[in-house]
Amino acid sequence: MTYDFTSILNRHGQDSIAVDGLGDGMGSSPARPREGFDSIPMWVADMGFATAPSVVEAMRARLDQPHFGYYQARDAYYEAIMDWHRTRKGVHDLEREHIGYENGVLGGVVSALGALCSPGDNVLVHSPTYVGFTHAVGDHGYHLVHSPLVLDEAGVWRMDFDDMERRIVENHVHAAIFCSPHNPCGRVWERWEIERAMEVFEAHDVYVVSDEIWSDLLLDGHVHVPTQQVSPWAHEHVVALYAPSKTFNLAGLIGSYHVIYNPWLRDRVQREGSLSHYNAQNVLSMHALMGAYSPEGGEWADELCRVLSANARYAYEHIRDTYPGVTCARAEGTYVLLADCREWCERSGMSYDRLVRAGWDVGVTWHDGRLFDCPGSVRIAVSVPHAQVIEAFARLDKYVFV
Ligand SMILES: Cc1ncc(COP(=O)(O)O)c(C=O)c1O
Repeated sequence: MTYDFTSILNRHGQDSIAVDGLGDGMGSSPARPREGFDSIPMWVADMGFATAPSVVEAMRARLDQPHFGYYQARDAYYEAIMDWHRTRKGVHDLEREHIGYENGVLGGVVSALGALCSPGDNVLVHSPTYVGFTHAVGDHGYHLVHSPLVLDEAGVWRMDFDDMERRIVENHVHAAIFCSPHNPCGRVWERWEIERAMEVFEAHDVYVVSDEIWSDLLLDGHVHVPTQQVSPWAHEHVVALYAPSKTFNLAGLIGSYHVIYNPWLRDRVQREGSLSHYNAQNVLSMHALMGAYSPEGGEWADELCRVLSANARYAYEHIRDTYPGVTCARAEGTYVLLADCREWCERSGMSYDRLVRAGWDVGVTWHDGRLFDCPGSVRIAVSVPHAQVIEAFARLDKYVFV
């Protein structure tokens, strides 16, 4: 391996929510572990790996020019994004004018919904649902309409197209959030699935906000298909959102962007985003993106995906082979696994609350599934060195699933 994905980073005292943001377990943060256990951070969706060297080099080069006045994005920023989408996602028609900065992908979701919805409108999402969507939609006065994903006979999460259609019609839905790859289910949608979903949306005039923040984190050779590329309709009716933040562990720098081909839609979303006067990029985060979306950044991301694939495979197989009554789909993308523990709780007599706590107590700092509309499940982020994944499951064997 060329890059270091094995050292255990000491993130304590380094402004990291994942390690220093633990509480008493009463709010949305997990509780600190019991005396004698360190915490293995598996809740916040960031990583226990240093970012790519090319990111740090690009930022350092900019720091060597110590003036940070008002600035404008340089051509190389747009070119880096266009190159990244061409070489890694097979997109050949992306031009500078289609790209616009967003203060976080969730900021982009909110701007897009602001352009598409009136307060009180219904917005379709799939459930389990990323907690950020739940807040972004609810906080702005829209209502969530959940269309549940279903596990097929092979244990793969699938959309239920009939259910989506029924809910769209019954609730007069005209905007949907589509998460691709899907957090927290770890699904990388196949082309035919995205095509079918877009056909349902097209048939009922539903504009789509496609959150593709996870689209570079593909496991075991799975391939991401950009939503806008599946049909001429999708090209013109989908607001797509991307960021280097998940891939390169840059969430603390803030730096996301939209791709919107349709000029009418783009003007509306950009206007909406401009109203807060906060939707402006930080110059260092621009340079971080250029370092990330470089050939060296690409090599680093490829290696990362191999590390995450091994972690996710280990976790999936360990759960399948060791914990009767716990079910979990194989993650195809992202680095999160959703483990359904309902049957295990029933068999063992342990309450779900107790189970979540039992993990936290021994430093397996996983996420409570209720945050994702999935009571009875835990979300486990395997974005730490492999040795920590093994250690986490060893503790679960010894202290939790006994
Ligand atoms: C699907 C999805 N969208 C958006 C975000 C957050 O993105 P940002 O920090 O750019 O707002 C996350 C973070 O976990 C996520 O999983």
